[in-house]
Amino acid sequence: MEKEFTWDYAPAPEAKDHAKIKKQYDLFINGEWVKPSTKKYFNTINPATEEKISEVAEANEKDVDLAVKAARNAYEKTWKKMPAKERGKYIFRIARMIQERSRELAVIETLNGGKSIRESRDFDVPTAANHFFYYAGWADKLEYAFPNRNPKSLGVAAQIIPWNFPLLMAAWKIAPALATGNTVVLKPAEATPLTALKLAEIIQDCDLPPGVVNIITGFGKTGAAMVNHPDVNKIAFTGSTDVGKIIQKSIAGTNKKATLELGGKAANIIFEDAPINQAVEGIVNGIFFNQGHVCCAGSRLFVQESVAEEVIQKLKARMETLIVGDPMDKNTDIGAINSKEQLLKINEYLKIGADEGLEMFQTSCTLPSKGFFCKPTLFIGAAQSNRVVTEEIFGPVLTIQTFRTIEEVIEKANNIPYGLSAGVWTDKGSKIFNLTSKMRAGVVWANTYNKFDPTSPFGGYKESGFGREGGLHGLMPYLSF
Ligand code: NAI
Ligand code: MG
Repeated sequence: MEKEFTWDYAPAPEAKDHAKIKKQYDLFINGEWVKPSTKKYFNTINPATEEKISEVAEANEKDVDLAVKAARNAYEKTWKKMPAKERGKYIFRIARMIQERSRELAVIETLNGGKSIRESRDFDVPTAANHFFYYAGWADKLEYAFPNRNPKSLGVAAQIIPWNFPLLMAAWKIAPALATGNTVVLKPAEATPLTALKLAEIIQDCDLPPGVVNIITGFGKTGAAMVNHPDVNKIAFTGSTDVGKIIQKSIAGTNKKATLELGGKAANIIFEDAPINQAVEGIVNGIFFNQGHVCCAGSRLFVQESVAEEVIQKLKARMETLIVGDPMDKNTDIGAINSKEQLLKINEYLKIGADEGLEMFQTSCTLPSKGFFCKPTLFIGAAQSNRVVTEEIFGPVLTIQTFRTIEEVIEKANNIPYGLSAGVWTDKGSKIFNLTSKMRAGVVWANTYNKFDPTSPFGGYKESGFGREGGLHGLMPYLSF
């Protein structure tokens, strides 16, 4: 593929010496840094270089119990009793402190997670701050949010988050929990603990009463201990559908409330009357944003047959201009795959797609020799029967199917176990309304993609989970009425 519109950019690396990362992190319990009872620490690395950045504590059941007790104590003695207006002030303080330390947080997010610095700086960190600002505003207005319903907090929330948006997911979880008067035990993913631990430092600097937010680190076993702790009232989980199902089984028959934000396989639908150039940008943003490590990624492209050739040709040309490489470089579009395991999973799907006989297109970029990287990839001429179409890949891999009629595309788009999000590109408002009302997807973007705002709810249908995060809806899972 000829590089028509590309230039070579000089390297523009973001400075990292201002980011303070400790050699070792303990558990943040009851407002203090506590050694793990296991005495065990595990390495956390930079996926772009495979170098060790730091090591973090591995919490076991005993540590989880300590954290839950701290959260319970803080709930009963302090947080529940505090006037809502005062609780709101603390949440505002966290928001402002995230803004103040945004540069450091962005650098650490990129070093630990592999996403491009442009994304951490312009999306993850500001959106995380915005979530705290937004929910701080609700803290003393719950009776207006739910008039005549007497909303009450639940107690202790156990929150388990994934590695694709580490700080942002922590914000999505912690902000509404605090605004509704609950206390928190949060566990970041084992691959990306560092910004959550930085958030613990911020929370400490905000003088939040000890125990209101506890942040502990560990693997799936630690998460399971949180889910199974008898004194937890609410579980909030974002991650794989497999673990979501395990959680649902383990809490069956208990009084624990849960929200599960699971996988996705979103359809991005381009009609022949769409503004094609904008749609191509939307396709690129939909699947290559954050290396495709996005549960709502537009990973299944549906193009109306009459414009398919044009769209595919323009898409290939645009993909050739994408800069893949050092995530710390400000020009980089596609950074590192988050972990070796995830890269292996993606590579396995590349092989499956090729074995299924699909036409594969990858850009001509050269990948760095160290670290975990993947070329942006298309599978052209895909069909509903292909595994690469029905299974979540969670990488920069897009399948392309064509369609003739609106009924056909709705049928195909919905014919999948997931239902988190979708995109539609057309000139006609009526078509948008027709389609959005028939799509079984929690979010449908029209003539845009991957737009997030703290005021709008997010969540799925079917195997994509249940419950909503964001907006007024996001308060409800943390309240009883
Ligand atoms: P995972 O679901 O295993 O991990 C997510 C979080 O759950 C981590 O904090 C992990 O420590 C914790 N966890 C693991 N097992 C647990 C258990 N039994 N009980 C409680 N907590 C547990 O996801 P993983 O293995 O990192 O990724 C596998 C696939 O899941 C990805 O390839 C992707 O397809 C999907 N995924 C979806 C995400 C989303 O945003 N919906 C985010 C991350 C992964
Ligand atoms: Mg897993």
